[in-house]
Amino acid sequence: MGKDSILLKPIKVGNVTLKNRIMFPPQTTGYEERDGSIGERSFNFYKRIAEGGSAFVTVGDVTPVMTASPTPKLCDDRQIPTYKKLADMMHEYDCKVALQIFHPEYDVPGVGRLIMQSRKAMMDAQALKDAGDMAAFGAKMQEAKQLSDQAYAKLHHDMKHFVSEATVEQLMQIKEAILQAARRAQEAGIDAIEIHGDRLLGSLCSKTLNHRSDEYGGVLENRVRYALEVVKGIKEIAPKLLIEYKLPFITTNEDGTDRGKGGLHEEDGILFAKMLEEAGVDMIQVAQANHTGNMADTIPPMGTRDYAWMLPITRRVKQVVSIPVAIVGKIVSVENGEKILEAGDADIICYGRSLLCDPYIPLKVERDEPIRECLQCNKGCVDAIQGRRYISCVLNAENGDEGTIFIKPAEEKKNVVVVGAGIAGLEAARVLALRGHNVDVYEKESKIGGQIHIASVPPRKQEILRAVEYYEKLLPSLTNVKVHLNTLATKEVMNNADAVIVAVGAHNLSLPIAGADGANVVSSWDILDGTVKPSGHCVVIGGGLVGAETAEYLANNGCKVSILEMMDKIAKEESSTVLPTMMKDFAMHGVAQYVNTKVVCIEADGKCVKALNTVDNNELALECDMVVMAAGSVKNVLDTEGVTTPVYYAGDCSGARTAGIAEAIRSGYKAANEI
Ligand SMILES: Cc1cc2nc3c(=O)[nH]c(=O)nc-3n(C[C@H](O)[C@H](O)[C@H](O)COP(=O)(O)O)c2cc1C
Ligand code: SF4
Repeated sequence: MGKDSILLKPIKVGNVTLKNRIMFPPQTTGYEERDGSIGERSFNFYKRIAEGGSAFVTVGDVTPVMTASPTPKLCDDRQIPTYKKLADMMHEYDCKVALQIFHPEYDVPGVGRLIMQSRKAMMDAQALKDAGDMAAFGAKMQEAKQLSDQAYAKLHHDMKHFVSEATVEQLMQIKEAILQAARRAQEAGIDAIEIHGDRLLGSLCSKTLNHRSDEYGGVLENRVRYALEVVKGIKEIAPKLLIEYKLPFITTNEDGTDRGKGGLHEEDGILFAKMLEEAGVDMIQVAQANHTGNMADTIPPMGTRDYAWMLPITRRVKQVVSIPVAIVGKIVSVENGEKILEAGDADIICYGRSLLCDPYIPLKVERDEPIRECLQCNKGCVDAIQGRRYISCVLNAENGDEGTIFIKPAEEKKNVVVVGAGIAGLEAARVLALRGHNVDVYEKESKIGGQIHIASVPPRKQEILRAVEYYEKLLPSLTNVKVHLNTLATKEVMNNADAVIVAVGAHNLSLPIAGADGANVVSSWDILDGTVKPSGHCVVIGGGLVGAETAEYLANNGCKVSILEMMDKIAKEESSTVLPTMMKDFAMHGVAQYVNTKVVCIEADGKCVKALNTVDNNELALECDMVVMAAGSVKNVLDTEGVTTPVYYAGDCSGARTAGIAEAIRSGYKAANEI
């Protein structure tokens, strides 16, 4: 950290000097306009990253053709001005900008035609309905559905087979579209093209996916031919642009199977890196291959992958090429990035999710200020993309709304009391302090962080503690914040302040069922905070997030576990990047999962649970040693009767329903910004 950090040393890439070695790798954001051009939301997001000091920023997944997917597009000359506005703004911060050009691994016009035909049939059906012709309406709707089904069937087929079935003519058309996008990028004043080495190009490079028998299939030289043609074409049509290649490697899972498909195995990838340099590529980004449909391959959630897991391969690439090499994948901390650079294992560090979480990493390195480190939770970024929403980091209340949400300096300096030092209270204290208020935080426990401490106990969850560690580092440096541990905020204290923010959290909910007060009935919170030592057969009532995580904890601590859940799925709200790992763990430990199951009563002091399957009405009686209630939480209520100071609420205690970390951050931020 500090001005001398190796992360801040300039580096030459091609004929361009990057002011430091911090790069924002491509991330689909969902911020772009519907036609794929750069609108306000997108512009403000990238402005924030540039303002934070990153030297090189990539706009992720820019398609050179019109697709239905919500990604940026540069397929029409009319879009050039929006990209030019972006480039001009980034340059004001001495930040270089790349567009990651990618082509999906399917026949875009073919799938698009079917979707358009389906939409047209829907519109015709509506017209028939408006005209009162219900018989014809039904038939048209049927036709629309068939066309839509055909579109999805073709999409799924193509994902596996297009790479092998595409005609050379189709490949040449796609190449031409990519080159035209590069030409537009150059006209817009963009600095670089990042070639997306996964998706269609990666499928062609891949021994696993490419089954062609022509000059684009078979031996390595054939599989990489198309990618090298794309490099050559871009150099010819847009000679002013740097070319950076995101080179995806297929790595190995713990069980020896391949991790990823759309890319190259290690030995082939190393040879290809050399070919890329010879072809005139200016920089290589060493990355993990995907194309398995599991985003956790490339964007692993907390606790599932080592930090900088691509390091051994990056080191090898660095040894065989002389152009700059970047590394991407769970670098997270500044210290980790510095270590990699100091060892000479890479030249540039990509901070992906980390810069969503804290866009000011480079500036904070220079000023030696605490950085809010990403949790690798995937909840606000990856899950949003999967759900076709725009990304918004759980810890960064401004992310995605940079143009409209920002910390306002206080009009009048006030003394504010914050009750509760969970995440909501801590975020409120931070924002209040930055606005210029004096803040006193009262916490009845001996440490800050509230529920995060129990949330960190289940398997793979330890990284969530970074949410608290940030405030542990930051708050002592804010001279206008005092934290009072082991202290209750009295009404007198509250009345002596100008405003109060109550952030007293929630407690575990006990279901009102017969036997819930039995001696062997405990709460998931008691288990996770170590108050109760579990053993034997534990029946967990409630298979939501907390129930599922508690079940995993119990199973990993030698208990036999059964989960009873009213809904049709366990851990319904869990990230799709986490769920497969959790289910594997359940299977390994033989955790029994009873869904659509309603608890009727608890008998024998918690040694037996009676339940009913709500689908088939089958009754169930589970003998056990302990019942663990994990049916949700309920807000805590602070007695504020007689408090005359204005009171604001944040976090779990503020709404009708308790919520997660994102809501805690946002409500704490909002309450503090309103005072
Ligand atoms: C929300 C999100 C969207 C992403 N979109 C892209 C993309 O469009 N193209 C791409 O090559 N990688 C994409 N990635 C992967 C990142 O570039 C990066 O490789 C990955 O997040 C691992 O780096 P990190 O651990 O620093 O986040 C995306 C990652 C996230 C979190
Ligand atoms: S949502 Fe989670 S994983 Fe995504 S950037 Fe924020 S902290 Fe990191």
